[in-house]
Amino acid sequence: MDFAELVKTARTIRRFDESKPLIERDMMALVDMVRLVPCGANAQTLRYKIILDKSERGRLFPNLAWAGALKDWDGPAEGERPTGYIIILSEKNMGLDTGIAAQTIQLAAADMGIGTCMMGAIQRDKIKEVFSIPENMQVHLVLALGRPVETVVIEPMPESGAFSYWRSEDGVHHVPKRALEDILL
Ligand SMILES: Cc1cc2nc3c(=O)[nH]c(=O)nc-3n(C[C@H](O)[C@H](O)[C@H](O)COP(=O)(O)O)c2cc1C
Repeated sequence: MDFAELVKTARTIRRFDESKPLIERDMMALVDMVRLVPCGANAQTLRYKIILDKSERGRLFPNLAWAGALKDWDGPAEGERPTGYIIILSEKNMGLDTGIAAQTIQLAAADMGIGTCMMGAIQRDKIKEVFSIPENMQVHLVLALGRPVETVVIEPMPESGAFSYWRSEDGVHHVPKRALEDILL
């Protein structure tokens, strides 16, 4: 896949095939890659917690909020839930570093046929409690991962400017993106 195609492919995925679980080698490869990304002062303060075990996945899931714009959907049903997670943490709030790391993982995952949903609408305190994360660490982002079972299509931005994504009756997820001329100043 060339890079432009990879960027197009690396859409947010929220439904996964639980019968094709991720394996530790995939997750380690993703975190190993993210070791090399740029970060402020090269301080490398981010830490990554990999969650693969089924019961641990089950304890993380209730602390995530899925697709706020899909009002009548409570998130993936059993059988379509993520089969792995990477939690991004650090001692300080490293917003920019987190974004660079998360997008690198999402692109690398897409290249491996793995779908990702970055999740910021999460119950950080509960997640810390459930996984006994040290008091001095902050939970920044959860990346939900798995083998995709949903189709996502990029759409032109409607004239109304409404940027919410939507799902059509056939289950396809549609995500509007602004045109090039609309983002250039
Ligand atoms: C920082 C960040 C936090 C996000 N948090 C959530 C979330 O908590 N739950 C969710 O379902 N999607 C979440 N998303 C996914 C966005 O809704 C998604 O990126 C957006 O709809 C555009 O779709 P696309 O990624 O396919 O371009 C998040 C994305 C980013 C970048």
